[in-house]
Amino acid sequence: MREQIETLKKEKNAAVLAHYYVADEVQEIADYVGDSYYLAELATKLSADTIIFCGVSFMGESAKLLNPQKRVVMAEADADCPMAHMVDLERIAKIRDEYPDVAVVCYVNSTAEIKAYSDVCVTSSNALKIVSKLPNKDIFFIPDNQLGRYVAAQLPQKHFIFNDGYCHVHTGIEKEAVLKAKELHPLAKVLAHPECKEEVLELADAIGSTAQMIDYATNAGDREFIICTELGILYELSRKNPDKRFYAPTHNQFCSNMKKITQESVLHALQSEDAGVLLDTAVSERAGLPLKRMLELAK
Ligand code: 13P
Ligand code: SF4
Repeated sequence: MREQIETLKKEKNAAVLAHYYVADEVQEIADYVGDSYYLAELATKLSADTIIFCGVSFMGESAKLLNPQKRVVMAEADADCPMAHMVDLERIAKIRDEYPDVAVVCYVNSTAEIKAYSDVCVTSSNALKIVSKLPNKDIFFIPDNQLGRYVAAQLPQKHFIFNDGYCHVHTGIEKEAVLKAKELHPLAKVLAHPECKEEVLELADAIGSTAQMIDYATNAGDREFIICTELGILYELSRKNPDKRFYAPTHNQFCSNMKKITQESVLHALQSEDAGVLLDTAVSERAGLPLKRMLELAK
């Protein structure tokens, strides 16, 4: 299968991009693996004609929105992030009426349609930096409640309005489980993704995107870490740090959508290209703007 994938990649001038949460066997064959920000930005720099995206829908959509001329094919068309849909468009309109100067800040884990109603996108790696650069005092943060609250706690000068979206994988990590893991591994540092609940973030030694968590563990002098995010990240953590130990507080840190993708899906996507990302032109034009603004402000 690997040989067939390699041959087709060359024949079609295709690049395989994967998120840290996909299965090990997919990360192994990917040309690039990264967090949401890295993958979105990378897509704007690649010379490949076709991008095979191993991740959930919003990631492929972002790559397409930033590169409308490129063919972006999802490795699994129905791998979707439930949080990406957790915004009521009518509420956005209501908040805009109520707060005329509001900035609608949209976590990249959102559909293209939702992005089209937003002012700027952010990822977990740059949300704080970008929101702090906005001139607006009123911020409506969508869809994730946890990331919004995490950013708000560090920017008391702004007025935040929150939405009730959440990630079931991250909010499923309970404080008690983290405390238990700390008790079992007293020397371990706790690394958490900002989609986790506030009471878990309070226990963390470092908070960041998947790439930032990997960098922290790689650069730290510590040898043991408790990992509060989806466990696909263990592949890269262990690859980069074969002599360090990583522990999971629970057995449920598993994103079933990310795990739909297999080597077989990648091969099928390369052969058929039938899950190309297609977006409505009007939505595309509007949804690309907040993403481009993110790339500018993240610099
Ligand atoms: P990162 O941007 O940190 O990779 O996170 C993406 C994601 O879906 C977290 O659940
Ligand atoms: Fe969405 Fe959560 Fe999966 Fe990330 S881990 S893709 S936020 S469901």
